[in-house]
Amino acid sequence: MAGQFITLEGIDGAGKSTHAAFIASRLRERGRTVVQTREPGGTAVGEKIRDLVLGEAMDVHAETLLIFAARAQHLHEVVRPALAAGSTVLCDRFTDATFAYQCGGRALPESHVEALARLTHGDLRPGLTLLFDTDAATAHARVVARSAADRFEREDLGFFERVRARYLEQARREPDRFCVLDGNQRIEAVQSALARALDERIG
Ligand code: TMP
Repeated sequence: MAGQFITLEGIDGAGKSTHAAFIASRLRERGRTVVQTREPGGTAVGEKIRDLVLGEAMDVHAETLLIFAARAQHLHEVVRPALAAGSTVLCDRFTDATFAYQCGGRALPESHVEALARLTHGDLRPGLTLLFDTDAATAHARVVARSAADRFEREDLGFFERVRARYLEQARREPDRFCVLDGNQRIEAVQSALARALDERIG
């Protein structure tokens, strides 16, 4: 039986990484085998690409192609085999992040990302996407307070506002796939909303 593909999305500082462990343990309690992974990254090649993309200034096309190169390797090595084995893949970011960051944030035409997505993963898309939606100013303040901000985290508030707006637009376009969680709430409140969403959406 094919497993389930679940993704976590949100602007930097929205708190999605804080909740990933909670989601994974909740799924495991229900007897699922969970493969927890991330993009860009998740493989040896992908982690090298991640360092490059997060560390070096580059043209948006180079950035996008590298992100999709990491994604292709990740799908080949991790995501597709895990799904084929019936595991639940819990992935921190996927192609929605490219629409949000590269199209929303950096004004790359959507048709470019659509073409690369078709080339890289065809019809494969997450069955459930948990979007942690946080006010951009709050998230930005959290990120700025971190000691070693990466190249994306150093972007200005306007960038994060555009990324957030593009995520919300995607959630409006695909309400059956997206579950939007209010990341401005306290951790316990987000976790009870998450628990309800997981019960409703995947049982
Ligand atoms: P992370 O901090 O959530 O691990 O994500 C790393 C950064 O990579 C984050 O700032 C967003 C960026 N990113 C993109 O710009 N496009 C993408 O497609 C992905 C997956 C991540």
